[in-house]
Amino acid sequence: MQEVAALKAATAQEAEDLRIKYLSKKGIVNELMTEFRNVPAEQKKEVGMKINELKQATLERINALKEAVASQEQAGDDLDLTRTPYPVRLGTRHPLTIVKNEIVDIFSRLGFVLAEGPEVEDDWHVYSSMNFADDHPARDMQDTFFVESHPDIILRSHTSSVQARVMEKQQPPIRVICPGRVYRNEAISARAHCFFHQVEGLYIDKNVSFTDLKQVLLLFAQEMFGPDTKIRLRPSYFPFTEPSAEMDISCHLCGGKGCSFCKHTGWVEILGCGMVDPAVLEANGIDSTQYTGYAFGMGIERITNLKYQVKDLRMFSENDKRFLDEFTSAN
Ligand code: DAH
Repeated sequence: MQEVAALKAATAQEAEDLRIKYLSKKGIVNELMTEFRNVPAEQKKEVGMKINELKQATLERINALKEAVASQEQAGDDLDLTRTPYPVRLGTRHPLTIVKNEIVDIFSRLGFVLAEGPEVEDDWHVYSSMNFADDHPARDMQDTFFVESHPDIILRSHTSSVQARVMEKQQPPIRVICPGRVYRNEAISARAHCFFHQVEGLYIDKNVSFTDLKQVLLLFAQEMFGPDTKIRLRPSYFPFTEPSAEMDISCHLCGGKGCSFCKHTGWVEILGCGMVDPAVLEANGIDSTQYTGYAFGMGIERITNLKYQVKDLRMFSENDKRFLDEFTSAN
């Protein structure tokens, strides 16, 4: 019995080990029960009582140990006023913020400065000053959110509006990078959302050429997706650039060999770009006989999907902590 009182356990596991050692089917106490058969008949009563007493005492001792360990562990969770309040568990940056910061950072190193404009805009900055014809389909209710009773006030559908905001305040040289949220009247699905994020770039100076544009975009692609990344430009159309192009990068998942991600083409599209249309320069008070410029625009969700293969756009706005916790950033 003294031995029972001497049983000790510092953790729940140690207490459980004691239970197994003494009280389980093959435990020491049960082994005594088996030996009970060999006890002479006249001693059976006394020995039987002793074994039962021993079993009961061991059970009580182990249960007491278990309780003591559990309450000790719980006490550890309680408030300890002598502790300093640090480290505080910090949240993580949103994946779109991580990628936006990375894009802005790359262009900052190339001399671009941050510019921003309002999300609630007017038709002039979003469309007219950007050379959209009056009957351009993007102005349609299907694409653009209008403020009821003020048909001229809209939610910007692209960050190209910030180009106009910058040009009206500043003469060249202009070299800006403009991240922001944009809105489109789309049904929400895995592949489309009624709001998303873009980054616009604009460079206007004397003698800016398409070659400059191509070089800067190549540098960007290699910084963002790795030094082996290749780019290709395909002719396209945007009202505010002439000529216009869409840029693809070599698929960084298969290295350009072709996979299901790049639909077996080896290339994935990442942005639109072109030389600023002289009509846009003139509409915004810049002399198109002296200055030329280039512009580009990309979707941050798209770049993020390429980097992290997020399959469903809705994940970005659902604030599911399990999703958000998967992303970490250095700053
Ligand atoms: N504004 C375009 C869009 O939302 C993207 C874009 C294309 C921006 C070409 C540009 C550009 O500055 O040159 O789809």
